Amino acid sequence: MNILVINGPNLNLLGIRDPEIYGKETLEELMTWIQTSPLGLNHEFKFFQSNHEGEIIDTLQDERLWADGIIVNPGAFTHYSYAIRDAISSIQIPTVEVHLSDIHNREEFRQISVIAPVCIKQISGLGKDSYIEGLKLLNQLLD
Ligand code: DQA
Repeated sequence: MNILVINGPNLNLLGIRDPEIYGKETLEELMTWIQTSPLGLNHEFKFFQSNHEGEIIDTLQDERLWADGIIVNPGAFTHYSYAIRDAISSIQIPTVEVHLSDIHNREEFRQISVIAPVCIKQISGLGKDSYIEGLKLLNQLLD
């Protein structure tokens, strides 16, 4: 299975950005952990991070023939990017939305996701395990 993992704006600062909310690990450490976790072993991964909405959309479109499943943490784009939502809906690849923090128990603006309706599931608040739960779900769906 080919899995595309997309991380949105400011997630490149993991490790130094609000570690009490997002943890102490860097994005690179987190992505390596996913790739080498028992659930990740039989898959091919592509990892992409961008602070730019258009680059995320371009990647979703460019990888649509490669990816069997997508794990996306759209960062703050979660809450207002109809363009990323449309891109996910257009490419018709099972996509799981993940968040490190519990977006439902934070500021009001974070409690809305415009992306979730076009994803098979939203997983939020499990720290880095949110990504593993997303991978588990794709495994179950695509195996
Ligand atoms: C986040 C939650 C978003 O509200 C925030 O803008 C992020 C990270 C998370 O993983 O908890 O950048 O997606």
